[in-house]
Amino acid sequence: MPSLATEVESTPQEVISSALERFDKDRIAISFSGAEDVVLIDMAFKLVGTSFRVFTLDTGRLHAETYEFIEKVRGHYNIEIDVLSPDNWDVEELVREKGLFSFYKDGHTQCCGIRKIASLERKLSDLDAWITGQRRDQGTTRTNVPHEQVDTAFSTRNHEILKFNPLASWESQDVWSYIREHDVPYNVLHEQGYKSIGCAPCTRPIEDSEPERAGRWWWEHEDDKECGLHVQNVSYD
Ligand code: ADX
Ligand code: SF4
Repeated sequence: MPSLATEVESTPQEVISSALERFDKDRIAISFSGAEDVVLIDMAFKLVGTSFRVFTLDTGRLHAETYEFIEKVRGHYNIEIDVLSPDNWDVEELVREKGLFSFYKDGHTQCCGIRKIASLERKLSDLDAWITGQRRDQGTTRTNVPHEQVDTAFSTRNHEILKFNPLASWESQDVWSYIREHDVPYNVLHEQGYKSIGCAPCTRPIEDSEPERAGRWWWEHEDDKECGLHVQNVSYD
């Protein structure tokens, strides 16, 4: 973990630039889903052209608008986006046993595990580092997110994986100022009251007065709002 001084001094562009320099371009990738991640893509594009990798975890339950957004980003930057699907056997087994909305009854952990985390684990086994759009002000589970960390959730004894969070110290308004200033594409759902956007059945629009991630798994407790991608934030190790 870097010193506090590094945290204060580094801009997102510096974090991205240093991360992309340190790893072979096929061993590091931007994990793309929301507004923050297109900011990362825009910054990377301005730094190194199209010489960077991007992946997104397609759970099969995203909004139609999100699929359109993914294609908009692909076309805007003329980049490849690796769209990862979950294991069809595991999805079919879950749905056969528990139906299509099991998460409302017994929580999101199992479905997210199958539809997101397993795909991420598969992807990270071919990478040495990933870059995420996490920000500290996104909620109670993210207040300590650093610019750089060893990913203790996905590293194994023989394979250390680093995780970069270049926007850790940014606030929502910084992201949206950047998007407007640089004419960055965004998900049209943001114009319909959605702030943090995940899968369609697990995301709802929110009021301006609500916390940013209140619309995610809204039927669960505020401290449970990590699906497993960033479980390290709440794993106290
Ligand atoms: S989540 O864990 O609750 O889904 P959130 O939506 O706040 O996370 O996003 C935080 C960061 O996790 C994003 O900036 C992105 O880097 C990564 N991320 C989240 N969802 C996905 C996804 N479906 N595909 C790829 N990366 C994702
Ligand atoms: Fe399943 Fe909801 Fe998690 Fe998407 S967010 S993987 S639909 S539980």
